[in-house]
Amino acid sequence: PSDAAFVIAIDGPAAAGKGTLARRLADHYGFAFLDTGSLYRAVGLQMIIEGSDLDDAQKATETAARLDLGLIGDPRLRAEETGGAASRVAAVPGVRAALLDFQRQFAGHPPGDTAGAVLDGRDVGTVICPDAPVKLFVTASAEERARRRTLEMEGRGEAADYAAILEDVKARDARDMGRKDAPLKPAEDALLLDTTNLAIDAVFLRAKSFIDGKLSSR
Ligand code: DC
Repeated sequence: PSDAAFVIAIDGPAAAGKGTLARRLADHYGFAFLDTGSLYRAVGLQMIIEGSDLDDAQKATETAARLDLGLIGDPRLRAEETGGAASRVAAVPGVRAALLDFQRQFAGHPPGDTAGAVLDGRDVGTVICPDAPVKLFVTASAEERARRRTLEMEGRGEAADYAAILEDVKARDARDMGRKDAPLKPAEDALLLDTTNLAIDAVFLRAKSFIDGKLSSR
């Protein structure tokens, strides 16, 4: 058995259900949880608040270097506008480099003295933690993801336009998969979980049996 923290890396496109899965797994195994997207969202939000030009790569890099982590609790973090801004600043290599150490530290030394960590994002299994014993890649069709996003927004009492949301989901996919630095893609040794026709309980059970197998062979 190894003393190193046991890392579960979960990647996938926006609204595929990876956040829900990640939280459930962290809860089940008693591991620390980091939503790495919230770091990019915080950079995007800080730029919006400061009125910075989202296409200014140098500004984005500077903002990431002096990131106000307090923004992670800001209600504006989950807004669609913040998600779009996050996806834009995430394409800047300087921004990714500025956020790398924090993520690796979290994975290597999870807070609360837990034996492991669950990180979800776009490049956790490929770039942040390439040696993670467990890598999951969670996907769903763009239409299904847009449908879920629409229901989620309606559930919060917000106005939601399915067609516009679908466009947004596709634009975000293209940007996240098309960028040069750390594009969204499954790690070679990732377990693929397509949630298009799979309920969260079934996804959880599949992930759990894969993880239990890795834990017992440690
Ligand atoms: O998962 P999310 O929707 O909160 O992520 C917001 C954006 O942040 C996403 O469109 C791309 C970027 N991101 C990234 O580039 N790398 C990560 N590890 C996590 C998020």
